[in-house]
Amino acid sequence: MYREAVAKLAAYIPGEQPPPGKILKLNTNENPYPPPPQVVDAIRSAASGPLNRYPDPLATSFRVAAADALGLPGPDWILAGNGSDEILTLLVRGFVGEGESLRLPYPSYILYRTLADIQGANWEQITFQENWELASDFSNPSDLLKLALLPNPNSPSGTVVSREKVVEIAGQLDCPLVVDEAYADFAEDNCVDLVIKHGNIFVTRTLSKSYGLAGLRFGFLVANPDVISQLAKIKDSYNCDAISIAAATAAMKCSDWLTDNCNKIIATRQRMTEELEKIGFRVTPSHANFVWCRHESMSHREIYEFLKTQQILVRYMEFGECGDGLRISVGTDEQIDALLFILRSHLS
Ligand SMILES: Cc1ncc(COP(=O)(O)O)c(C=O)c1O
Repeated sequence: MYREAVAKLAAYIPGEQPPPGKILKLNTNENPYPPPPQVVDAIRSAASGPLNRYPDPLATSFRVAAADALGLPGPDWILAGNGSDEILTLLVRGFVGEGESLRLPYPSYILYRTLADIQGANWEQITFQENWELASDFSNPSDLLKLALLPNPNSPSGTVVSREKVVEIAGQLDCPLVVDEAYADFAEDNCVDLVIKHGNIFVTRTLSKSYGLAGLRFGFLVANPDVISQLAKIKDSYNCDAISIAAATAAMKCSDWLTDNCNKIIATRQRMTEELEKIGFRVTPSHANFVWCRHESMSHREIYEFLKTQQILVRYMEFGECGDGLRISVGTDEQIDALLFILRSHLS
């Protein structure tokens, strides 16, 4: 009874979400700190608002605040979604038909492949070169290619492709290039303003990481108004609820909080990188709120399993010929000290 594409689908498996408790959770790149207090206030006041009424279908208050925060020409350059995963779903649904192709780098965000599979579309994964350099094949145009997705910073590596390179790739492709900037607030640069000048560059963002709002579900697309209005036609009418719209609108006005929070995480990331290297890990220099590391001699799966016995959850990832490793989210300083203490005593 199912569509063939659904019956054949290997479901995307998100990182483990154990019930809250004693587990030190460093596996899904959440922010270890709570969101800005203004956001919690906005949630409280939205909760006592008219919840018997449907929310604004286009989340106008959020779009106005986000356009302002990001220096965009206007709210019509933004589409709000139920997490950036929903935005990615809409992009694939809107651009890639059955039998057509979606391109992604590999190893990167595995969900992209699932989204292509749901469409009955094909995915082309372009394997990163040594040192996580993007291979030139990523820019090759082809008739069937309808969308290219580039996480920047990439997950699991935390590495970045420069703005100049993004412009160069978009210029060579005959299809949209989506820069998935889930982690861009932890990096030095981003591509948001490129959307204004380059019609086939789109940017996706999330409030799950840098704003500490993974539990709320809110993400958005920045693209030219034509793309926004086409994709708005295929979203659920009320894809974002009144509480999350109020919270996300408040979050967009917390630029000082955002800078401070990201700086704190970046400082911990730096210290964590140096300390992991001292105990035998090769750590890829990260521009995100996690690090990708490989140990010189120990089995990564065993380290992962051992940490789990110690109530510490990191992400073990295995990418066939590209090998395996551990992706560890940046926690608070105390959490990272606890991780390092356990690792030092186990590995020495
Ligand atoms: C590269 C990348 N893009 C998008 C997302 C999804 O974020 P959201 O929570 O907004 O759906 C993630 C989540 O981990 C991610 O790693």
